Amino acid sequence: ADEKAELISRIKRLLKEQDAVLVAHYYVHPDLQDLAEATGGIVSDSLDMANFGHQHPAKTIVVAGVRFMGETAKILNPEKRVLMPDLEAECSLDLGCPVDEFAAFCDGHPDRTVVVYANTSAAVKARADWMVTSSIALPVVRHLMEQGRKILWAPDRHLGSYVQEQTGADMLLWQGSCIVHDEYKAKELIEMKAAHPGALVLVHPESPRAVVKLADVVGSTTQLISAAQKSVAQEFIVATDNGILHKMRTLCPDKVFLEAPTAGAGANCTSCSHCPWMAMNGLRNLAEVLENGRNEVHVDPAIGLRAKQPIEKMLEFAR
Ligand code: 13P
Ligand code: SF4
Repeated sequence: ADEKAELISRIKRLLKEQDAVLVAHYYVHPDLQDLAEATGGIVSDSLDMANFGHQHPAKTIVVAGVRFMGETAKILNPEKRVLMPDLEAECSLDLGCPVDEFAAFCDGHPDRTVVVYANTSAAVKARADWMVTSSIALPVVRHLMEQGRKILWAPDRHLGSYVQEQTGADMLLWQGSCIVHDEYKAKELIEMKAAHPGALVLVHPESPRAVVKLADVVGSTTQLISAAQKSVAQEFIVATDNGILHKMRTLCPDKVFLEAPTAGAGANCTSCSHCPWMAMNGLRNLAEVLENGRNEVHVDPAIGLRAKQPIEKMLEFAR
């Protein structure tokens, strides 16, 4: 406990000294979420992370999350220094969509508007017309439909088919998926619902279609937290990374939050309920990067300039 308190006060001092702000995702360790909020930073979903870092005057943005989040911060703020506790914090969606194959896919369908999820590399964003996060995917696709557009969507096939079903848009889907959400299982969830008949089921749309079908609420991390706050239900089954439970339990101390079942629980599953890359962020490596300035996020300026366009389009749309 002493070591933790020492690390926290060291990080607080370093953030001040370096004119740095900490931006954290709901999936990182609760210590980092609390620290971000206690030091004037933010804990949020990917859309608000991008917005907050962009609008904040600090010279350095420290991103506790995964690489695409650090890259998005750098693309939007090329003049700022962007640091991450661990640059190896990847995302299976990003890894599953290499730019060369993606560009060839786009070239094969020039009649389609290219919409990519935030969970992609800078180079993939540079090839896109629009970027979206899970919280804004539906309104953006509806907007494109009104303009009569056909869509090429990448990389998450579950989010893509959810959006397709909700909007009726003509969407061609890249076949990527999130290794964490892919593990939620419909059959076990049906059994859990039966055992907890009053519970509301909250599902992130990166989950498989059969799991999304069982949801009472489908939404981004921020949207799921706000649904838990607003609902009169006392019990919730949550199908998204269990890092989110910290915020849910803090905001709703009298409500009960249960993790949705994964088939791998108890088995040898390294991506069940918690993202192994989000888990790479900790107090120790955060203090280290603030001290030694290593782990700076770099994005090729020419790619960054092109990638900025679809991101800014989304931010503009969100306003
Ligand atoms: P949101 O926080 O935008 O819902 O995205 C979840 C995610 O994929 C982060 O890994
Ligand atoms: Fe990527 Fe899934 Fe991890 Fe989010 S939880 S960073 S989508 S692998």
